[in-house]
Amino acid sequence: MTSRRLVLTRSAALIGAATSGLLLPQLARAQGNKIRVGLMLPYTGTYAQLGVAIENGFRMAIDEQGGKLGGREIEYFKVDDESEPPKGVENANKLVLRDKVDVLIGTVHSGVQMGIQKVARDTGVLSIIPNAGVLAATGGLCAPNVFRASFSNSQPTRALGAPMVKAGHKKAVWITWKYSAGDEAYLGFKEGFLAAGGTIVKEIAVPFPNVEFQAQLTEIAALNPDAVACFFAGGGAVKFMKDYAAAGLKGKIPLYGSGFLTEGVLDAAGAAADGVTTTLHYADGLDNAKNKAFRLAYAKQFKLQPDVYAVQGYDSGQLLVLGANAVKGDLSNKKALYAAMGGATIDSPRGKWKMSKAHNPIQDIYLRRVENGENKVIGVAAKQLVDDGPGCKMT
Ligand code: BEZ
Repeated sequence: MTSRRLVLTRSAALIGAATSGLLLPQLARAQGNKIRVGLMLPYTGTYAQLGVAIENGFRMAIDEQGGKLGGREIEYFKVDDESEPPKGVENANKLVLRDKVDVLIGTVHSGVQMGIQKVARDTGVLSIIPNAGVLAATGGLCAPNVFRASFSNSQPTRALGAPMVKAGHKKAVWITWKYSAGDEAYLGFKEGFLAAGGTIVKEIAVPFPNVEFQAQLTEIAALNPDAVACFFAGGGAVKFMKDYAAAGLKGKIPLYGSGFLTEGVLDAAGAAADGVTTTLHYADGLDNAKNKAFRLAYAKQFKLQPDVYAVQGYDSGQLLVLGANAVKGDLSNKKALYAAMGGATIDSPRGKWKMSKAHNPIQDIYLRRVENGENKVIGVAAKQLVDDGPGCKMT
């Protein structure tokens, strides 16, 4: 009897406070509604492994908080985007309009990201990019509700040219998949390589996700440049490095790349990856406490070595945790949420980083070489590299 009266008294007090407008957000949380988190990632196709690593890393960051965001439980919704740009808008809408997610985490492929960007701008849903580097997302099409926890496409390759020229490799062929990630990685490479005194002998582009490289490798052999630089990732990167070795180019023409070339694929590529030199915002053996703890925990939980995609997923989770904690789980408090996320310093396995004004990481770019099945750090190619997102106007 006593306890029933107590419940009724408390309920009456809560209703009074709620109708006076004092407790509405708290009441919603007390009622236990969950934060709806949408994962839009590739789970099939050449980038499937990248999507899985991102999800693993993201969940790790959330699990470190007891599986909650700002004290609230979470419900996950997932869509396989298949790295198919024409389905980008439709797939993003499945999460935003059908599943009514509070936040969309996605994706890997720059072309698909453009679909997410449209939906994020049209609906105002909070969007965290865990990989895709398409420049427009934090450039001309930037938005207050869009945050990138990865890189912009020209960031890693901007730092590649100077070490190539320093190693005496002044004449290069560039080869990539033909889509925005490859085109924009080339922009960064070209800028850095030409500024360092290099000459680009030829640019070669292969349709995405084609992995038939024979004709192009024959052409490269005939051109006989000092070095080859490239952008490939996932399953296609493995095939490219194996074909490069099988064509007899390995050991004759040094292979360089945007670091995605050798991320998450070293077991599959085997000896074909040995000696490949790349630039990226992460490397396996980075000597910082966060990286050591992260690598240990990831290997224990997933029985796999983590890669840059796992790190970016983890940092996407850390960024969301930080924002959600700042607003005590009330993601509708957008002004405070975006201020916290925009001003965040993320203690990442890649080293600490902050957001630029355009919501893209300001970060170190490492020079790495594959040795004994590991991406070894051999130097810092660029310190705290900023991409200020030309054309970005936050409105
Ligand atoms: C992209 O499409 O933006 C991308 C895909 C894989 C690795 C890096 C970038």
